[in-house]
Amino acid sequence: NCSDIVVVGSCMIDFVSYAPRLPLAGETIHGKEFATNFGGKGANQCVAAAKLGGNTALVAKVGNDVWGPKYIENLAQSNVGTKHVKLTDNISTGIAQIIVSDSGENQIVIVAGANTKLGIQDVDDAQETISGSAVLVLQLETSQEVAIRAIQLCRGISILNAAPAVSEYDPQLLRLPTIFCVNEPEASIFTGLSVNNKSEAEKAALELLKKGCNSVLITLGAQGALYINNTDKQFHYAPSPTVRCVDSTGAGDAFIGALAYLLATRTDLAVPKAVELACIAAADSVTRRGTQISFSGPSVFCESK
Ligand code: RIB
Ligand code: NA
Repeated sequence: NCSDIVVVGSCMIDFVSYAPRLPLAGETIHGKEFATNFGGKGANQCVAAAKLGGNTALVAKVGNDVWGPKYIENLAQSNVGTKHVKLTDNISTGIAQIIVSDSGENQIVIVAGANTKLGIQDVDDAQETISGSAVLVLQLETSQEVAIRAIQLCRGISILNAAPAVSEYDPQLLRLPTIFCVNEPEASIFTGLSVNNKSEAEKAALELLKKGCNSVLITLGAQGALYINNTDKQFHYAPSPTVRCVDSTGAGDAFIGALAYLLATRTDLAVPKAVELACIAAADSVTRRGTQISFSGPSVFCESK
């Protein structure tokens, strides 16, 4: 009954428009195609780990509307434990409006809906599942309080993917997780520093350690990722394989899901090596459209090496 990887986080229905480019403010442009997918950072990360072969469970809320039951069915089909995914009355399932340009860039607005109803009580209801996990994964599409409470119950490794970033936060959000993971714009919001290149990312990582993080992981898009921990204070760079980017939506989720899977199941791997492999899974995911539907199985690690 124990899951190695437990994710406490969001489910969203992604409404995706593919367009030649991202529109400017106030502009209407013609898109070329439309798709409806299962998304949300929490569920994406959990499905990514499950597709790699991880034994996973999700703690989440969806609306009791046209989407909620379908979402739970999708999770079950992806081999995710759904005992703690609850249908919630009088609020809609979380949704994301996504635009993806020809160059693979995206723009996303989320309306969190039922995800805002995930509370401390739901985390406590899943206490056994959470404390029995080898790796616990959190994001910020659900509340900070939920993330903090879950990490307090965790006895293994905790990874907080602090996305979307917030400029006002409880300091425990930085201090509690084993790994605090953000991309460059998010690192900038948490530190107030500008983060546009590797040397600025290093400064932001050091600042985050100073603010109390145990270890910091900054994803650098096509440049891979940067990892540093509070004990040896060495920068470890993981390269990203060069790929043709079709849709970068959810690449960060492929990365976090793969990292969680590797840290839970491959205890022989040091974190920097696991980060390198997670970069391979993330790069692979951008070569196909969508988030969960674009994530690969375990062969992703063999093919690219
Ligand atoms: O990280 C990608 C995800 O962010 C999308 O699936 C969308 O739902 C948004 O939450
Ligand atoms: Na993708």
